[in-house]
Amino acid sequence: MAKKKLFRFQQNAQAFNVIEQGKELYTTIKGRWNEVYFKNNFPITLELACGQGELTIAFAKNIPQRNFIGVDIKGARIWKGSQEALAASLGNAAFLRTSIRYMEEFFAEGEVDEIYLVFPDPQPKQAQYRLTNERFLRLYQKFLKPSGLLHLKTDNAPLYHYTLDTVQKLGGKILFQTTSFYESEMKDAHFGARTFYENHFIQKGEVVHYLRFRLD
Ligand SMILES: C[S@@+](CC[C@H](N)C(=O)[O-])C[C@H]1O[C@@H](n2cnc3c(N)ncnc32)[C@H](O)[C@@H]1O
Repeated sequence: MAKKKLFRFQQNAQAFNVIEQGKELYTTIKGRWNEVYFKNNFPITLELACGQGELTIAFAKNIPQRNFIGVDIKGARIWKGSQEALAASLGNAAFLRTSIRYMEEFFAEGEVDEIYLVFPDPQPKQAQYRLTNERFLRLYQKFLKPSGLLHLKTDNAPLYHYTLDTVQKLGGKILFQTTSFYESEMKDAHFGARTFYENHFIQKGEVVHYLRFRLD
């Protein structure tokens, strides 16, 4: 393994804000995030496929009365968000390293208030892996509060339209939609935070699409 990756994994192992395999909380935290980790009763927001966790960090800094958890399978990416949260003493931010497929093992019914999906892989050829396909949306419903909000930010028009169709097919409600986030009323809603992939796509001239919806 590359030295840099190994160093990041070692730091993750030491970091209390990274919940990952091998740590006690990894198998005991379901239904207890607020009691055991955050030690408050604030609403919980997830950033799924968070990568380096830029939104989790920006939100945690700007919204102290909410708790934020970035989830990603890649430890070397989560490391960045974890270290930033530690440096800024953000007690309302945590990172969970797991596959999103196993989310039910970490969150109990109604434990989560809001979910962000920010530039997830569009999976053009494999709809079964899209994080907004019917199977994943049904999975999120198992731990999201009934009126909980979901957000999708993507440069990928096919994924945006696929998600719109899937939400409508499931009887969900689209609350806001735009094919041009930075020209919409939402443009300042994320405190100016831009993720690694967002910057990458914007530099390539892509436009950010955004959806806010509910699954009732
Ligand atoms: C295109 S990147 C976007 C990362 C970040 N949101 C950004 O905008 O910079 C997609 C991320 O999804 C993560 N990912 C993909 N499938 C996943 C899964 N099933 N469970 C957890 N993470 C996953 C990858 O590890 C990667 O970090």
